[in-house]
Amino acid sequence: RIVYVNGNWVPEEEAVVSVFDRGFLMADGVYEVTSVLGGKLLDYPGHAARLERSLGELGMGMPMDADDLLEVHRALVEKNDLVDGMIYLQITRGNPGDRDFAFPPAETPQTVVLFTQSKPGLADAPKAKTGMKIITIDDIRWGRRDIKTVQLLYPSMGKMMAKKAGVDDAWMVEDGFVTEGTSNNAYIVAGGKIITRNLGTDILHGITRAAVLRFAREAQMEVEERPFTVAEAKAADEAFITSASSFVMPVVEIDGAAVGTGAPGSVATRLREIYLEESL
Ligand code: PDD
Repeated sequence: RIVYVNGNWVPEEEAVVSVFDRGFLMADGVYEVTSVLGGKLLDYPGHAARLERSLGELGMGMPMDADDLLEVHRALVEKNDLVDGMIYLQITRGNPGDRDFAFPPAETPQTVVLFTQSKPGLADAPKAKTGMKIITIDDIRWGRRDIKTVQLLYPSMGKMMAKKAGVDDAWMVEDGFVTEGTSNNAYIVAGGKIITRNLGTDILHGITRAAVLRFAREAQMEVEERPFTVAEAKAADEAFITSASSFVMPVVEIDGAAVGTGAPGSVATRLREIYLEESL
């Protein structure tokens, strides 16, 4: 693999950053994951816009403009002959030399890293046919989940809780309402409506979410953006998730109880088809 590190293209063994980097010491950084299908980047403008927003919320600017960053993404696809997979991008506040809670001076160079992960057949994931099983767990993350920071310890623990329970993922719950999945946005279909939590500081503003809701509305499906409870989800006709890496994935079981018929629902299946058609 050829990795991009601060303007250089290096083999992965040489792709290193300082132990003093604030990303390493403080999780002081943000990231984006952009999918690649058939060598094509999906939803790049959305990911670039969210990156700029995440950086801005943390008092940082873009290391280069979105067009130049797009060229780096494209070069990375080309240098790695990437067909299906994803591009991981991470920007941290850099290496101020010493460990200090206070931010270093603004002129401290950021650390900018991009690498690829190949996932052949990404669009044909078997789970799309069988559906995912999930458990619900408490959402104990910090209060600015709209910023895509690299502080992913609790989502990692959530995935491990799911693994231990023999299921695929976990939905996080706060005050009885589902916030989102460990690395995806959560939806149910009930009363003929697609219901998903409204945007705020308590969830990540998914780029796939924005695209899927737009396609749903264009297809005359009714969308309601509001929090829903675990009980509503269990009683729903369908449930599903969206993310850059999974597109749209049906959820067929919540805390051991079947959702709807226990098979992937027609709305989730249709939205997955539309998303993939529109993206390719
Ligand atoms: N995760 N919510 C959370 C907490 C996420 O981490 C993600 C993305 C999403 C979906 O956002 P998008 O549609 O823009 O991918 C929602 C990425 C894929 C990851 O961490 O790998």
